[in-house]
Amino acid sequence: MSIHKTARKITTHVLQAMKAKNEKIAMLTAYDFSMAKLVDQAGIDVILVGDSAANVMAGYDTTLPLTLDEIIYHAKSVVRAVEKALVVVDLPFGTYQGNSKHALDSAIRIMKETGAHAVKLEGGKEVKESVIRILSAGIPVMGHLGLMPQSIHKFGTYVVRAKDEEEANQLKEDAKLLEELGCFALVLEKIPARLAEEVSQSIKIPVIGIGAGSGVDGQVLVIHDMLGLTQEFSPRFLRRYHDLASEIKGAVSAYVKDVRSHDFPNEKEQY
Ligand code: KIV
Repeated sequence: MSIHKTARKITTHVLQAMKAKNEKIAMLTAYDFSMAKLVDQAGIDVILVGDSAANVMAGYDTTLPLTLDEIIYHAKSVVRAVEKALVVVDLPFGTYQGNSKHALDSAIRIMKETGAHAVKLEGGKEVKESVIRILSAGIPVMGHLGLMPQSIHKFGTYVVRAKDEEEANQLKEDAKLLEELGCFALVLEKIPARLAEEVSQSIKIPVIGIGAGSGVDGQVLVIHDMLGLTQEFSPRFLRRYHDLASEIKGAVSAYVKDVRSHDFPNEKEQY
């Protein structure tokens, strides 16, 4: 039987056992109670309350405006729904960089106020002190390297990262460092598949990819993208499992038609 099936709850240790047994880890984002309940019931291993909430829930162009209070609101809603999956919450931009005491305060707020199981943050050596301090409080940390959306104004574009040797070497060093510091897992976003596979083989902690090929230990997608709710976003790495946008628009226009034509509510739909 699979490790996912035998585990009562998915913990950071379960994820590490999955990597050791070459069992792939499935991770998706969720930001609200109803969606998180469905995702958990469908057998996901990890739910990420991602700062992509800034894009898909709040409509911002970047993840930068999302606040700690906002992610806490989303995470509380998700945690109330989840019975089995590990819930990881993104530390928003400006809540952990450059000041490790501030980083610890932010992570403690997330853990205390939401009941989530771990935090995720973007960066390598530049966030070392913050990672150390958060871990020192017993809070599990997931790293995130490659395309880091919180640094979009430094990168300038959302293109594939670490294609040149210098950036690839830096990424490999950062991945090793995050493992040595004690991170329990690492997200690699939008980097060449061969590099991601090399990183995954060089460290013991699970590597979860998004746009990083199949040679890693698991995959993550933004739920709105894989369900086809975000129509305008279609990078090569995205597989759409549904066309919910069309289904929702179809259902809403049928409702509008029924209301306008006096068809809804009918005799049986009233008291
Ligand atoms: O915020 C998010 O959704 C993420 C994933 C893309 C990994 O960080």
